[in-house]
Amino acid sequence: EKQKYIRNFSIVAHIDHGKSTIADRILEMTDTVAKRDMENQVLDDMDIERERGITIKLNAVELKYQAQDGHTYTFHLIDTPGHVDFSYEVSRSLAACEGALLVVDAAQGVQAQTMANAYLAVDNDLEIVPVINKVDLPSADPDQVKLEIADMIGIDADNAVLTSAKTGLGIAGLLERIVQDVPAPSGDISAPLKALIFDSVYDSYRGVVLSIRVIDGQVKVGDQIELMSNGKKFEVTEVGVMSPKAVPQTQLSVGDVGYLSASIKSVQDTRVGDTITLAQNPTQESLSGYRKITPMVYSGMYPVDNAKYGDLREALEKLQLNDASLEFVPETSQALGFGFRVGFLGLLHMDVIQERLEREFNLDLIMTAPSVNYKVVSTDGTTKIIDNPSQMPDPSEIQEIQEPVVKAEIMVPQDYVGAVMELAQRKRGQFQTMDYLDDYHVNVIYQLPLAEIIYDFFDALKSNTHGFASLDYQIIGYQPSQMVKMDILLNSEPVDALSFIVHEQFAANRGRQIVQKLKGIIPRQQFEIAIQAAIGNKIVARSTVKAYRKDVTGPLYGGDQTRKNKLLDKQKRGKKRMKEVGSVTVPQAAFMAVLQVD
Ligand code: GTP
Repeated sequence: EKQKYIRNFSIVAHIDHGKSTIADRILEMTDTVAKRDMENQVLDDMDIERERGITIKLNAVELKYQAQDGHTYTFHLIDTPGHVDFSYEVSRSLAACEGALLVVDAAQGVQAQTMANAYLAVDNDLEIVPVINKVDLPSADPDQVKLEIADMIGIDADNAVLTSAKTGLGIAGLLERIVQDVPAPSGDISAPLKALIFDSVYDSYRGVVLSIRVIDGQVKVGDQIELMSNGKKFEVTEVGVMSPKAVPQTQLSVGDVGYLSASIKSVQDTRVGDTITLAQNPTQESLSGYRKITPMVYSGMYPVDNAKYGDLREALEKLQLNDASLEFVPETSQALGFGFRVGFLGLLHMDVIQERLEREFNLDLIMTAPSVNYKVVSTDGTTKIIDNPSQMPDPSEIQEIQEPVVKAEIMVPQDYVGAVMELAQRKRGQFQTMDYLDDYHVNVIYQLPLAEIIYDFFDALKSNTHGFASLDYQIIGYQPSQMVKMDILLNSEPVDALSFIVHEQFAANRGRQIVQKLKGIIPRQQFEIAIQAAIGNKIVARSTVKAYRKDVTGPLYGGDQTRKNKLLDKQKRGKKRMKEVGSVTVPQAAFMAVLQVD
């Protein structure tokens, strides 16, 4: 009965089209948050999210809505991120919902992620409510956007809700539409418990706190639950809803979205996408779960202070709990010591993790340049995956290197098709097809090496098209490529953490640029530093950081030749020792230098 009055929905949109602002307005209109407590983007509760104005983690909140039919409805609103790096978070939220508000900016119209998210919603069998936001803007053209939604996505948009999250216009109507259009959850309260874990966070008091959607049955404090993927059992210590702060409840039942804690201590035990059931009365089959998310970019992460290695591991473990896509394994670098190889979804994700480690866990880190992973077929016929350039075997042992490629869909107004193709070509893209989405928008499809995408493709695309292009991509496989490993030598010693992999065609040029760049980054020291770029044994570029010439004999006024010689000796020994151990001071910027050359 209660179930009839539940509505679970997500908000999906292209980045910056106004999801979080709409969520704020909804919270305000339903008095979930008093107006005076209303901070902008309440659901974006991490500092970084606020500062950058982007949503990274999904957030679920419960609110009560008194509808025009006289009934009070319980809404569960699940906010989702819009950036392509975080699209897996979107699919997790969608699996917990029956409906999705598809928000489209009235001035910008349908963009690449609008389409990608709309398809995700369709795949999850969600009812889609089209919302055209920012109608207050002078350049808003809602009728045009309705046509785009219909033509490009293929859903009827005649009755799209027009809103301005800025002024609040249309939000009341939107709430009614949620009641009317989003179906109530359909589970069975008398069936054995079946609940989906769609997020989890680590809390130092309560242990792991799970965000769950109850599909069938109910769960209450004291119940013995079982995690179906690993058979582990726990006693429930608290259940509740976020409104938007945690509010404990006696139970969560069918259709509810809330949190559950059960003194789960180990971050390894819970898996997002797993099914929870009752140990005594288990459900027959688990939910299908989520597709496994594979990182696309790998980077080495090392504490500046070696003694902080254990702290770094702990911090990564805690972040991993929130973030199913974060992967790490220990690695050692001759240059940097003990650290981790960490896998990310993209550069933004990498940035965010680095920043959180530094801020929330107070760690100083050295990070190496991001790299994709490569399949290396050896001359002995074996294949292995390499995610760290320094593991690349000697060229004589390599039969073939394969790199990951993506299918990139670039949506642009037709005037910019030329600019897009020129860029994609330069980035080693292979043209696939081009579809006219309507009279004006073109979807240009290329196969592109992932390595080129993660570097600066997105920024280049934006600037080449004056911000009009939007990009969506997915990995489609590996292709053989003429890749080579470039080593960087400081005073003839290869520095493993500076190696990178580059296409043969760009290698010589990249080598020269990087050496120049490093020359500017590595500070002068007591001795001369030779910087070389090499492919195998072949040096392709070199430059030198001159030594400080400290005139140690200066203050001696000629005089005592023995003392003079002693001093000169000492200085020479000093230089030699440093050369021998290769103790050149290399600043962090040097490890990222490869990203700054084109
Ligand atoms: P991500 O969380 O980063 O994916 O973005 P988002 O889709 O949640 O967008 P957000 O709500 O952060 O809004 C993006 C920008 O648009 C902000 O500067 C908002 O103030 C602005 N904005 C949102 N809604 C409106 C609107 O109705 N009118 C106008 N003029 N600006 C709006």
